[in-house]
Amino acid sequence: MSIVVTGATGQLGRLVVDALLDTVPAESVVAVVRDKAKAADLAERGVELRIADYDRPETLAEAFGAGDRVLLISGSEVGQRVPQHRAVIDAAKAAGVAQLAYTGILGGPEADFTLAEEHKATEELILASGLPYTFLRNGWYSENYTANLAPVLAHGAVVASAGEGRVASASRADYAAAALPC
Ligand SMILES: NC(=O)c1ccc[n+]([C@@H]2O[C@H](COP(=O)([O-])OP(=O)(O)OC[C@H]3O[C@@H](n4cnc5c(N)ncnc54)[C@H](OP(=O)(O)O)[C@@H]3O)[C@@H](O)[C@H]2O)c1
Repeated sequence: MSIVVTGATGQLGRLVVDALLDTVPAESVVAVVRDKAKAADLAERGVELRIADYDRPETLAEAFGAGDRVLLISGSEVGQRVPQHRAVIDAAKAAGVAQLAYTGILGGPEADFTLAEEHKATEELILASGLPYTFLRNGWYSENYTANLAPVLAHGAVVASAGEGRVASASRADYAAAALPC
């Protein structure tokens, strides 16, 4: 049984793997990545790499093992994510994983903004799979704002389209830490 993180070479995935390596032996951690070279540093730290692409279901057949605890980090291609996530869920089901955690979005089924649609559809696919699951309904990354600090400081204003809406953000590192018990 391994703890398997998809999207492990992404910004959130790397933080999850870092946090895992602080708490469990490297031999129990698996990184599912599509670019082996990009994950060389993870392999050097003792993490097993499994190469797979959400767009190529056949590559996902070896990504998971029976009893694995899997964190599916949502894909980054808006509009492509439902078929991509379906392929991952199907592979997890076929492998007989023990737990599937998914990084969805704040609000779950009640979320009424466009970006939530693919996350809601993914949650429905996971529920239909019958797999034990955890939904990590992340809010906005604080880094969405801090990455843009230069113009904010230059103009003395955060310009956005939220109107009176409020945003609860947290750092990627906090979301990564929150994912660990899953
Ligand atoms: N809450 C928020 O504010 C917020 C903001 C932006 C995105 N998100 C969502 O949260 C996810 C993680 O955020 P992040 O900052 O870590 O994003 P990121 O740095 O762009 O990482 C995305 C990860 O997904 C992997 N990936 C993308 N397409 C894939 C495919 N077809 N097959 C296999 N892996 C694939 C990427 O692989 P490579 O390393 O090979 O590129 C990367 O590791 C995003 O993908 C997006 O769904 C949330």
